[in-house]
Amino acid sequence: MSTNSGDGIESVLNETRTFPPPAEFVEQANIKSEEEYQQMWQRAKDDPEGFWGEMAENLDWFQKYDKVMEGDMPDTKWFTGGKINVSYNCLDRHLDSWRKNKAAIIWEGEPGDTRVLRYQDLHREVCKFANVLKKLGVETGDRVTIYMPMVPELAIAMLACSRIGATHSIIFGGFSADAIADRNNDAEAKIVITADGSWRRGKELPLKKAVDDSLEKSSTVKKVVVVQRTGGDVEMVPDRDYWWHELMQDISADCEATELDSEHPLFILYTSGSTGKPKGVLHTTAGYLLGTQMTSKWVFDLKEDDTYWCTADIGWVTGHSYIIYGPLANGATTVMYEGAPNWPNEGRFWEIVEKYSVNIFYTAPTAIRAFIKWGDQWPNQYDLSSLRLLGTVGEPINPEAWMWYHKTIGQERCPIVDTWWQTETGAIMMSPLPGVTATKPGSCTFPLPGVVPDIVTKDGESLPKGSGGLLVMRQSWPSMLRTLYGDHERFLETYFSEIEGCYFAGDGARTDEDGYYWIMGRVDDVINVSGHRLSTMEVESALVSHPKVAEAAVVGFPHELKGEGICCFVSLTEGEGDDAMEKELIQHVRQQIGAIATPDKIQFSPTLPKTRSGKIMRRLLRDIAAGRETSGDTTTLEDASVLESLRKKDE
Ligand code: PRX
Repeated sequence: MSTNSGDGIESVLNETRTFPPPAEFVEQANIKSEEEYQQMWQRAKDDPEGFWGEMAENLDWFQKYDKVMEGDMPDTKWFTGGKINVSYNCLDRHLDSWRKNKAAIIWEGEPGDTRVLRYQDLHREVCKFANVLKKLGVETGDRVTIYMPMVPELAIAMLACSRIGATHSIIFGGFSADAIADRNNDAEAKIVITADGSWRRGKELPLKKAVDDSLEKSSTVKKVVVVQRTGGDVEMVPDRDYWWHELMQDISADCEATELDSEHPLFILYTSGSTGKPKGVLHTTAGYLLGTQMTSKWVFDLKEDDTYWCTADIGWVTGHSYIIYGPLANGATTVMYEGAPNWPNEGRFWEIVEKYSVNIFYTAPTAIRAFIKWGDQWPNQYDLSSLRLLGTVGEPINPEAWMWYHKTIGQERCPIVDTWWQTETGAIMMSPLPGVTATKPGSCTFPLPGVVPDIVTKDGESLPKGSGGLLVMRQSWPSMLRTLYGDHERFLETYFSEIEGCYFAGDGARTDEDGYYWIMGRVDDVINVSGHRLSTMEVESALVSHPKVAEAAVVGFPHELKGEGICCFVSLTEGEGDDAMEKELIQHVRQQIGAIATPDKIQFSPTLPKTRSGKIMRRLLRDIAAGRETSGDTTTLEDASVLESLRKKDE
């Protein structure tokens, strides 16, 4: 993507291939025709109350709502007056049918151990753990931090929280002790659920140790529950730390789901914004549940006998919405895998597809690019004929990767759904409907029913087809974030102040002549590293917290595998910087944020390019990091020689 001097954004991609859904797929699809989609979309736009009211009949309510929606965006409340419970909708309602013996979660551990939890097993475990939480003093409305590997106990913990109305805040296992402490403090979490460790490529990542370190800085946390996963050494602090298996031994399996208000806070998920401090995106109960349930059904075309596998980590929103809440609300069978895609070898994902006859497979472009690099011999060794639908999420997919996915994994038989959405949107917003939409490699195609996007200039003017601009939503939707935890001002400022009357997504996008949407990447200081969002400011804050760093500027650059890599320009308080200093700074960032923020390049420079008013000219740094000629104006640069010296260093 390149920003031009005017209001719009220029695109360099021109992809013309189209792939209509195969006839056999259309025949069995949940939504079968363009007319059906158009009619749903138009109805949801013109009469959102009527449309979503009808959709809400798919949920089980303790008490029906008084109103479908109340108030204008950004403060729309959904299903007010209603009483409902997410865990009940994901579990209990399936128990009075044959689904009670259906596999809810098929879990595979990295070392090869497996567990299958039928709906009634999952229900029992969730009820027991909900009672454990109560026993430990957790009440409706309290916040619970979860920092766990991808084990069934993670699913159980989140569903147990939702059962009693405790708000969970799940932190991805790749974050450091400091990052956990920040999040514990921001959410004022009362308790942390963790494990001794997590398996990653045969090695143990010590999770409990990170929690111990974090608790030195987070005083609100009074109790820690520890799942025994790796058997590694851990220190258990008396009256603070408890083993999961001991707590679960003599606890009742009876626990009624609490009747919660539709707008009761379900979870907080921290995500990077364009400042150094992560944002606690808050989702509530009924709207989020409805959004994830309906989109799972529409986009993944879920059927009763499907085996569905989303490869995300539950530490990210994709795992929340499309490993747990969406699939389970539909009574589906969801596969959960603990480990790395290349352990013990690069065929692991395809082995799992074959082993469980996976029908629907949802992954990220960064993973697809890794599969391509590892070679076709890996998927070619396995029987992938069970697959009927493929999905991608998290970043724009380059057309070559899309074509490889289509041919090598989908064997030209499976539609691909390229799903655009965000932590903030809770559920998929734009995506092909696999039985309806003719796909184009790299396009997320069209908005789902209830989603009214537009592409606008900085002044909020709608742009015609073919031009790039800022992606906004003109209408509220049920699974929209409700606030940033503890900072409603920042919520209003970040999403609703940029373009009047609209939700501003932070992405650039364009439509083509056929009205297809193409996401062009972030327009703010957020970068997308392996499908994970990171704020460049967050990495900068981590760098400048090192005593030897005077100043730092961090930019993204195109990276073959990760999508974007992290490039840091650093000026030191003294000295020029050497390999040892580079290593020290990399370590420092990992300690401050976590392994996911590991810098790819650190470039030392006595000064950074600034405007005369002292602003770092990141645009120039982005060009240098990408090895591009400098685009645009450099006349405002305070000291032109800085640029030359940075370029020389990069050579
Ligand atoms: O830039 C867009 C990109 O990921 C951002 C959202 O990141 P996060 O909140 O971490 O959620 C990721 C998983 C939902 C978006 O602002 N993004 C996500 N999906 C796509 C995408 N970019 C292009 N195409 C997609 N399908």
